[in-house]
Amino acid sequence: MMARNEGDTAQHPAQDRLFERESGVARMPTAVVTGAGRGIGAEVARELAADGWGVFAVVRDPAAARTTFDGVPAVQVISADISSAAEIESAARAVATMTASVDLLVANAAQFAPWDETVATADLDLVRDILAVNVVGTWQTIRAFLPALRAAGNARIVIVGSGGGSHGDPQFGIATHPGAASYAVSKAAVHALARKAALELSEEGIDVFAVDPGLTATAPGMAEMGAGPPRDGARSVLAPILHPGSVERGSLTRDGRPLPW
Ligand SMILES: NC(=O)c1ccc[n+]([C@@H]2O[C@H](COP(=O)([O-])OP(=O)(O)OC[C@H]3O[C@@H](n4cnc5c(N)ncnc54)[C@H](OP(=O)(O)O)[C@@H]3O)[C@@H](O)[C@H]2O)c1
Repeated sequence: MMARNEGDTAQHPAQDRLFERESGVARMPTAVVTGAGRGIGAEVARELAADGWGVFAVVRDPAAARTTFDGVPAVQVISADISSAAEIESAARAVATMTASVDLLVANAAQFAPWDETVATADLDLVRDILAVNVVGTWQTIRAFLPALRAAGNARIVIVGSGGGSHGDPQFGIATHPGAASYAVSKAAVHALARKAALELSEEGIDVFAVDPGLTATAPGMAEMGAGPPRDGARSVLAPILHPGSVERGSLTRDGRPLPW
């Protein structure tokens, strides 16, 4: 189970629904997590499932994901490449056949850029691909699931950004590290997307957050660079959900603490 701060009594309405009864039937809160087949997304899905959520894991390789979530019945695997509007809309329709509303969207899927990619040397076709997945893909994921999020009444959207696209990271931030340029630009853009969406959707009761998992060991060699385990990354992603009211809407946080973007 996920740890909550001692004394955390104010639960978000979506969590209250764990105990809510509709027509005598308990309704578990529902989350959609993109890029949930591996890495931080898989860990976010596992954490939510362990905490009593029903999770729709949006993945590109459903067969592999079914193996990953074998023995975790709370996780349902849905197939979509988020860069395809048709596929993500089809995924949203599939989810809508199984639940009337979605309480939480974790827009986690993203594509990394080569570490040594710079503004001067970048392959612009790859730049287009990365922006299509990380920025437009995230945007169209939010759009596709908005009807189900609206139906929840008090839903939340967590957009997974990165210290690499922030001014607050002294090691890999946009002002300090020249590499992985298109990835950094894409993540700065989704931090802005979170702010804009928060402004727009708060009127409808939907809270939007941007989060940085922190350097997380999801690829070979990263642990040697000092990256933490995926579980810590997942907790940083879920901080606005674990500690409702502690994070400013639209802001970027790492481990629940503000990170300037
Ligand atoms: N790891 C870190 O240190 C770190 C630091 C800061 C931010 N982040 C952010 O944290 C999030 C998760 O990163 P991670 O380290 O877990 O990365 P990862 O292990 O590379 O996982 C990325 C996930 O995104 C999915 N994905 C990529 N392109 C997709 C597309 N077009 N459509 C659908 N799914 C797609 C991948 O699916 P496939 O399995 O099909 O490839 C994979 O499941 C990302 O947003 C990343 O930018 C990570």
